[in-house]
Amino acid sequence: MSTHKIALIPGDGIGPEIIREGRKVIDTVSEIDGFEINWTEYPIGAEHYLKTKELVTEDTMKEMSSMDSIYLGALGDPRMKPGVLEKGILLTMRFYFDQYVNLRPIKLLEGVWCPLKNKTPEDIDFVVVRENTEDFYVGIGDRVGPGKSQNHLEVLRELYTVKFDLDIENDDEIGYQIGMISRKGTERVIKYAFELAKKRGDTRVTAVDKANVLSYIYNFWREIVEETSKGYPGIEHGFNLVDAVTMWFVKNPEWFQTVVTPNMFGDIITDLGAMIQGGMGLAPGGNINPDGISMFEPIHGSAPKYKGMNRVNPIATIWAGALMLDEIGEEESAKKIVKAIEDILREGKVRTKDLGGENTCSDMGDAVVEKLKAE
Ligand code: IPM
Ligand code: MN
Repeated sequence: MSTHKIALIPGDGIGPEIIREGRKVIDTVSEIDGFEINWTEYPIGAEHYLKTKELVTEDTMKEMSSMDSIYLGALGDPRMKPGVLEKGILLTMRFYFDQYVNLRPIKLLEGVWCPLKNKTPEDIDFVVVRENTEDFYVGIGDRVGPGKSQNHLEVLRELYTVKFDLDIENDDEIGYQIGMISRKGTERVIKYAFELAKKRGDTRVTAVDKANVLSYIYNFWREIVEETSKGYPGIEHGFNLVDAVTMWFVKNPEWFQTVVTPNMFGDIITDLGAMIQGGMGLAPGGNINPDGISMFEPIHGSAPKYKGMNRVNPIATIWAGALMLDEIGEEESAKKIVKAIEDILREGKVRTKDLGGENTCSDMGDAVVEKLKAE
């Protein structure tokens, strides 16, 4: 019997509740399909930070490097300044494990109410491949008052090292933030997108950018899309500016198949994507390093106001668990979970508040478990 070692990070807010349901579902399918999951739980998050002043240590991440994957609930807590946990834990882990793909399927399931009039599950079924380590997320910049100053900024990655030495002279207070993409960092994610498109049987890859304004970064991005596309003669590609893409996601979601996007625009357009597939409670994501340790999570946050109420929808997390199983080689089990979710939503008997029902978070987890057992 094969065993998979999984690091489990319940996190903050509703994190522990949703991850409990996700774990329950994975344990069930593993029993049915005859493999074993060896969970190691890590108390990373706000509580741990407030007690110990520790976010996530290199030792902890090293330990996780020996595992097969990471399953994360949610991070974020109103007692902390925005960004502390997000940057100190989530982005730190994405970068440390070099999870350069953020994979976000946008799929409207049957039985789910869609805010777009006259759009059906046939119209909304695409996938967003968001670059996950570069762009404006490299996190370098500063804020300085009027005068002369210097700054030394670095981006240290396994792929490359970049150093900026700045001489600054300004007569008003300024804030500045440097975004950057690299050739290798871009090539690998574009290639991933084309490979995924091929696997899905797509005929088109849509690349998102803002080359008309942020031209240094995104003309470079476009060039790499052009070059990479040559290796995929059966797949056409198109460029969409990010502002226009938000419009088309709403007006003509059926046009999209595989979408590839730089990090920051990807963050924005996948919240929109989540909404057109029925809401944040249904949107899963994976931070993927195809040759390393990946991390799976719902794309929503920790929803502190619902903490401990057993109220939110765990489907995004359960679905993220399915993406995780797919990545670690349990494709059949992953499919079973997605099918169970589809069946439950179509039947509409168990519905959490976000779906217009009265069921709890654990009711929904139980329903998926029962469905798996009944198959
Ligand atoms: C997401 C989140 C994160 C991001 C934040 C919490 C750092 O919004 O996963 O989409 O911006 O990537
Ligand atoms: Mn986001």
